[in-house]
Amino acid sequence: MTSQSWWTTWRTSIAAELFCIDLSPNESCESEAIMWLDEDEQERWKTQSSPSRRREFVLGRAAVRQIICKRLKVRNDQLTFLHNEHGKPRIRVNKRRVSWQFNMSHSQPYGLLALVNGLKVGVDIEVRKPRDDFDAMARVVFTTPERRCLVGLSDKQKRCQFYRMWCIKEALIKGIGKGFSINPHTIEIPETMLKGAKSGLWQTADQNGNISSWRMADLSQPNFAASVAVEDKGVVENVCL
Ligand SMILES: CC(C)(COP(=O)(O)OP(=O)(O)OC[C@H]1O[C@@H](n2cnc3c(N)ncnc32)[C@H](O)[C@@H]1OP(=O)(O)O)[C@@H](O)C(=O)NCCC(=O)NCCS
Repeated sequence: MTSQSWWTTWRTSIAAELFCIDLSPNESCESEAIMWLDEDEQERWKTQSSPSRRREFVLGRAAVRQIICKRLKVRNDQLTFLHNEHGKPRIRVNKRRVSWQFNMSHSQPYGLLALVNGLKVGVDIEVRKPRDDFDAMARVVFTTPERRCLVGLSDKQKRCQFYRMWCIKEALIKGIGKGFSINPHTIEIPETMLKGAKSGLWQTADQNGNISSWRMADLSQPNFAASVAVEDKGVVENVCL
């Protein structure tokens, strides 16, 4: 199978290797990509709600497979994904879980994959589409200090700040992997990041007082907002922002 180049290595940030995936229409890449999916994924591909969703799914999943195969030096037929009860996939090689973890996100025409060894990871990418319900959405997902950051901004600045904060929070939620069961108000974006810092640390304690820490990085670019969150176990990692 020949590899097509609809994905590329981007950079490393807070221990995560990041890859950009081009999800724009490309017939030859799509027909190559479909061959990388296993039977379950091909069924999922067929049930996607629109041609654009089908394209995003197939190009995204096949790129994830190609990147993992290359990085972990395994064959595609050795690779399967195990999903937790909230749908977050984990890598299995020869039906066994491995230490490598990944997360991916799509926002037409961009896909972003983060790959990390030994730590949980979450990633989110959003094209800054205009919408007329920023304030209503902000009440649903942002805390009072977060919403304060949107006050007094021009429409363009508000859109930028909204998507920046959305991605930071969503990357963390995706890293934790419990989806909609997490109330976004229980996650407060670190104050330093609200003030514009490109990276930050988020900590929380469970009922037994066990602290869990996450490092976050804002990866936003002119064409999209994006963020990555990596579990922090106190290991010294390469930081490259
Ligand atoms: C999947 C979910 C986590 C993100 O959905 P989304 O933003 O539409 O989709 P993205 O493109 O960013 O990510 C989809 C990918 O994340 C992965 N994923 C699926 N469920 C996941 C989960 N529970 N946790 C982390 N990753 C998940 C999959 O790889 C999926 O790709 P696939 O469809 O090709 O299999 C969503 O179901 C969810 O729970 N979101 C709610 C979180 C929330 O309250 N956000 C408020 C905003 S701050």
